[in-house]
Amino acid sequence: MAVSLDEIARQVEACRKCGLWKSRTRPVVGEGSLDPKIMFIGEAPGRNEDLQGRPFIGAAGKLLTELLRGIGLTRDDVYITNVLKCRPPGNRDPLPEEVEACTPYLDEQVKLLRPRIIVTLGRFSTFYAFSRAGLTFTSMVKVRGKIFKSQLLGLRVSLMPTYHPAAALYYPKLKEPLIKDFEKLKKELEGLDSVDESRTISLSDFM
Ligand code: URA
Ligand code: SF4
Repeated sequence: MAVSLDEIARQVEACRKCGLWKSRTRPVVGEGSLDPKIMFIGEAPGRNEDLQGRPFIGAAGKLLTELLRGIGLTRDDVYITNVLKCRPPGNRDPLPEEVEACTPYLDEQVKLLRPRIIVTLGRFSTFYAFSRAGLTFTSMVKVRGKIFKSQLLGLRVSLMPTYHPAAALYYPKLKEPLIKDFEKLKKELEGLDSVDESRTISLSDFM
């Protein structure tokens, strides 16, 4: 288990656990608040992200930044990362073996950052979070904009899937539900209890 985010970054920089290291320019570990209430999980770096080593800085990132601003947040208020840390060639879909090889890093990031809310962007990150929470993923249409009070990786979190911002760039009809989901996220954030009761799952939870 990694002891710190810096250690995860070092591991990812040196990683050759799947074939994507061969074609990447730079891996993208993630960035943002180190004590985030909200963690956003995308799919994988795109072209711009691969060149600069930062998540969501291209067109989809611009939309994500706008959506955040719409609910009074900046990128520094949240943590942003992806299921895969290296770009799949031509932005193809992640392969199952790549997801399996890479998600231990994401697991560690979740455990270290301990977000109260996890927002998954698109089906790959939603599938990941659902599997960690013991939930069955059906389809984005069915689950998006819903809050799943979950226990995941030893943590209690509100899990909210929504559409990937890139999908809303291809299908402008998705922008309105995406904005709605961010409004829901704002409400969930406001509703977080100020008292931070122990969020680590304890024996009493099973009795
Ligand atoms: N799309 C993603 O899923 N992640 C990024 O970082 C950029 C685009
Ligand atoms: Fe390693 Fe993940 Fe990059 Fe594959 S995508 S080489 S598992 S960091």
